[in-house]
Amino acid sequence: MIERTLAIIKPDAVERRLTGTIIARIEAEGFQIRAMKRVHLSKAQAEGFYAVHRERPFFASLTAFMSSGPAIVVVLESADAIRKWRALMGATDPAKADPGTLRKEFAQSIERNATHGSDAPDTAAYEIGYFFSGTELI
Ligand code: CMP
Repeated sequence: MIERTLAIIKPDAVERRLTGTIIARIEAEGFQIRAMKRVHLSKAQAEGFYAVHRERPFFASLTAFMSSGPAIVVVLESADAIRKWRALMGATDPAKADPGTLRKEFAQSIERNATHGSDAPDTAAYEIGYFFSGTELI
């Protein structure tokens, strides 16, 4: 089934000039890019995006990090896009990520982990809508 998912190249990776490298991997893996932009989230915008994690002990630190600098938000489309993008990213904790995954190669810690991906169809719909209107998805 053709699906869409939201990918984020997080501030740690943008700061280290990894945007082009990660986008190249995305295209090489066969995803279509349906929308893409550079954003600098406010703390409140980061809190809204990660609202499902608001009770977690890392919420304040995560949202401070995600609002600390520019990020790139991207809508990816392919067959099985949600699972496929999560596989390309690797485990949340880079210490547990498989060789060849983006987080194994580029993440610095469980928080500064280079990329984000939606985890299910309902969260993908929420996360895509958080950044893009329907007319921006082309
Ligand atoms: P992400 O896939 O964007 O989803 C939630 C984010 O919270 C995750 O990547 C990490 O950046 C961060 N995160 C998850 N677990 C932890 C943790 N145990 N400690 C700190 N940050 C975490």
